[in-house]
Amino acid sequence: NTRTVTCEAPVNIAVIKYWGKSNEELIIPLNDSISVTLSTEHLRARTTIRSNSGSREITFSLDGKEEVLTKRFLRAVELCRAEAKRQNTSTAEELAQGLSIVSENNFPTAAGLASSAAGFACLVTALKHYYRITGDVSGIVRQGSGSACRSVFGGFVRWLKGTAPDGSDSIAQQVKPASHWPEMRVLILVVSDHKKETSSTHGMKTTAETSRLLKYRADVLVPQRCAEMTAAITAKNFAEFAEITMRDSNQFHAVCLDTYPPIFYLNSVSQAIIEMVHIYNQYKGTPTVAYSFDAGPNAFLFTLEDNVNEVAGLISATFSEMIDFRGLPLQPIRTEAS
Ligand code: DP6
Repeated sequence: NTRTVTCEAPVNIAVIKYWGKSNEELIIPLNDSISVTLSTEHLRARTTIRSNSGSREITFSLDGKEEVLTKRFLRAVELCRAEAKRQNTSTAEELAQGLSIVSENNFPTAAGLASSAAGFACLVTALKHYYRITGDVSGIVRQGSGSACRSVFGGFVRWLKGTAPDGSDSIAQQVKPASHWPEMRVLILVVSDHKKETSSTHGMKTTAETSRLLKYRADVLVPQRCAEMTAAITAKNFAEFAEITMRDSNQFHAVCLDTYPPIFYLNSVSQAIIEMVHIYNQYKGTPTVAYSFDAGPNAFLFTLEDNVNEVAGLISATFSEMIDFRGLPLQPIRTEAS
């Protein structure tokens, strides 16, 4: 009895950042976060699961290379098997069977382009279909990699920190589908495709342990900001959306700097991009482009469809010498519903 399931999952970019956990094992965040899910047309993970008949072994290859199974990876498989058992959607024989899992990203893995987010969302979605599980699996995805749970939904997504000590209500929810704001575009500027120096997991642990600013951010500032961001998205108020996005990215990098010893994710090119965006917005008289940076120097620029060409032109004129677009042309990325 052999089964094959293939799934694709998109990347998501946080506009209110997740940084810091209240529970390391269960991956429960210190604050809610909000993101935009990109189209699978441009950046996506693709995973195929086949039964390894006659064997109990699980094998995993990523971009053609055999990978060692991490604790988080095995946990995702175990949680899906347990859920299938609870829902009674797979036979004991199926649940015991080994799996051959093959994944592939159509963009540089681990270059700070949220590949782990797409990867875990994809793995768990494929397992969900493989074991015929029904219902929301964002709580399982979360335990693979926190930010990944937001990739389960399209459009604008909020990941709730929840209140349950076991993390059962720390799940992702769609705020609005992509069709609510179809003019929204994201430009990705690959400043560096090197593997990041401080992983998010390790970086946020150090920040949570050493930064007092993080506590104020998570307890006081982010709850206000999430309410304002939800209102901006609902009203399709780009100027508001842009200002909150930039302020939150800056604050995330400020808590990285408040970490002891400090963590630097931005480089001089990232800083030049930030300056360029502010000069451009001043020239336009209203926030027209917003930048956001994760745990790396690459920039995500949000703008509306009408401005894409002007912004793309400005970027290539300013940065053609500095930025290596390697395999990732500066293309508008459409957001779409899942
Ligand atoms: C800066 O989700 O990669 O991209 O939960 O430990 O796997 P783990 O961390 P991860 O952290 C992502 C941090 C971020 C901000 C965000 O996406 O919200």
